[in-house]
Amino acid sequence: MPTPTPLISAEQIQARVGELATALAHRIPDGEPPHLIGVLKGGFMFLADLVRALPRPVTVDFARLASYGTGTTSSGEVQLLTAPHPVRDRHVVVVEDIVDTGLTLERLRRHLLADRPRSLTTVALLDKPSRRRSDVTIDLVGFTVEADRFVVGYGLDLDQHHRQLPYIAVLDPS
Ligand code: IMP
Repeated sequence: MPTPTPLISAEQIQARVGELATALAHRIPDGEPPHLIGVLKGGFMFLADLVRALPRPVTVDFARLASYGTGTTSSGEVQLLTAPHPVRDRHVVVVEDIVDTGLTLERLRRHLLADRPRSLTTVALLDKPSRRRSDVTIDLVGFTVEADRFVVGYGLDLDQHHRQLPYIAVLDPS
């Protein structure tokens, strides 16, 4: 079993989440509660911290998608397993744990845009830009991760392990 080595501390994450929340609040007009859609399962911890750092009321929903592949590589086919509730005329914010190929985010964006939200903002805690297979835009990014690193913790897993870590770690083969 590979051992997790700390990469981004809990303190660094909390500081960055605060900055992302401020940046996000500036993008949405006052008086209109943003509608945050967390991407399960990996995004649950980031979403929970982000809503508590946002200085305004929000509504929350979740979506679940799966890309079929083996181990740590995506097959490229993304299925929407649990669709979010309708978003017509809402200021929607998609909250992702990590964007790798971008295919998951692209699939969810396409689904949401078909429902004509008033605006659609995307926030990802982590970004692996060099592995992108879609030209999807991410409006706000927490940290950039090198393509060859597989990270766990703070909601992210490898085969359901390590989600509970309060920090982000990189898995070294042991
Ligand atoms: P994408 O469709 O390739 O952008 O994949 C996004 C999903 O792949 C994320 O929501 C994660 O579930 C998973 N993923 C990609 N890279 C990592 C990683 O380094 N650690 C854990 N999960 C990852």
